[in-house]
Amino acid sequence: MVNIAVLGYGTVGSGVVEVIRTNHESINRRAEEEINIKYVLDRRDFPGDPVEDVLVHDYEVIVNDPEVDIVVEVMGGIEPAHTFVKRALEAGKSVCTSNKALVAKHGPELVQMAKERNINFLFEASCGGGIPIIRALNKSLTADEIDEITGILNGTTNYMLDKMSTEGSDFSAVLKEAQELGYAEADPTADVEGHDAGRKIAILSSLAYGKFVNYEDVYMEGITKITQEDMEYARTLGMNIKLLATSRKVGDSYYAMVAPFMVGKSSPLHSIDGVFNAVFVHGNMLGDAMFYGSGAGKLPTASAVVADVVDEAKHLHRNIMTNWTNQPLPLTPLDHVHGRFFIRVKDVAVDELEEAFGKVQTVETDALPEEMGVLTSVITQGAYKAGAEKLGDRVISMIRVKD
Ligand code: HSE
Repeated sequence: MVNIAVLGYGTVGSGVVEVIRTNHESINRRAEEEINIKYVLDRRDFPGDPVEDVLVHDYEVIVNDPEVDIVVEVMGGIEPAHTFVKRALEAGKSVCTSNKALVAKHGPELVQMAKERNINFLFEASCGGGIPIIRALNKSLTADEIDEITGILNGTTNYMLDKMSTEGSDFSAVLKEAQELGYAEADPTADVEGHDAGRKIAILSSLAYGKFVNYEDVYMEGITKITQEDMEYARTLGMNIKLLATSRKVGDSYYAMVAPFMVGKSSPLHSIDGVFNAVFVHGNMLGDAMFYGSGAGKLPTASAVVADVVDEAKHLHRNIMTNWTNQPLPLTPLDHVHGRFFIRVKDVAVDELEEAFGKVQTVETDALPEEMGVLTSVITQGAYKAGAEKLGDRVISMIRVKD
């Protein structure tokens, strides 16, 4: 028997208990051991809930119990999660977590602690909800040099942008819906400002490139400035607005960013709707691969957490994380990064626009007679910035383009 303790009985924690109870036979068969939930830790009481029998309020009970083999951290936030995880690893217990904030900030330290003790610190549920992308990068794509990861990595904002586009929903109302559905973070600022996707692309990039990408170095822009006017242009262009998280190797340097993009029909990310996530990976041998699935929510996230429990139960005294070192990976500024830009302007003639940005294609919509949209050719971000400075407040807004 393998005993586990679940830290936190919130959305994901209650999902972990539900997944293990619902699928216990097939999970035990795959783990080749019986997975037993010995403890659930939470500050609150849950009268009448079957979890009452195993509920504890004091972490000391768990960390000091030599029968606990695996600690499942699904509390979220940095503290006390960080302290609890470190103490579990020090006590020789493997840990799995869904906590992106913890992995993005303390991943190198925790991965190293597990390695030194020949136990495991796994975090499949930290990126892409139920999509097994961490396992793919850690175990499957090991023959390749990966040079690009681009994905829709936040379910909340993808759900919101989809509803804003197809139903004309209001930003605050649709955010509230995403919260009620259990998609959003406790503080949804992390979702809508792009920080959650920024942490996830930092984690995936660290695994793909084998060095630590600090999420604080990732350029992050969220969806709070996206309006119905932008949606109107997207419809006119036959594009969809998506919050993309991307990192790429260009020559010998790497960059990473999160920002809203106008995504064209030729991109496989164009039609990823609702709460779904998708991660596109390019490898020098593999070429293209894309991973797709439920990106947030109680059961998809819990499914990924429990997959880590199974892996850890099968490898109780063998470390299986292959490609994450403490060595930092410096990111280059975005000024040299190439792309096309969609720009909304007012009171500017095409000649002046072309002086600022080079060749442009105009986009007009009857719904917005006071302004004009333009698509640039491929230029650098530095060139965009310089052009926008020339035009000053006649630039209403800009969205990057992914063809
Ligand atoms: N708030 C996150 C999202 C949860 O919407 O993607 C899953 O990590």
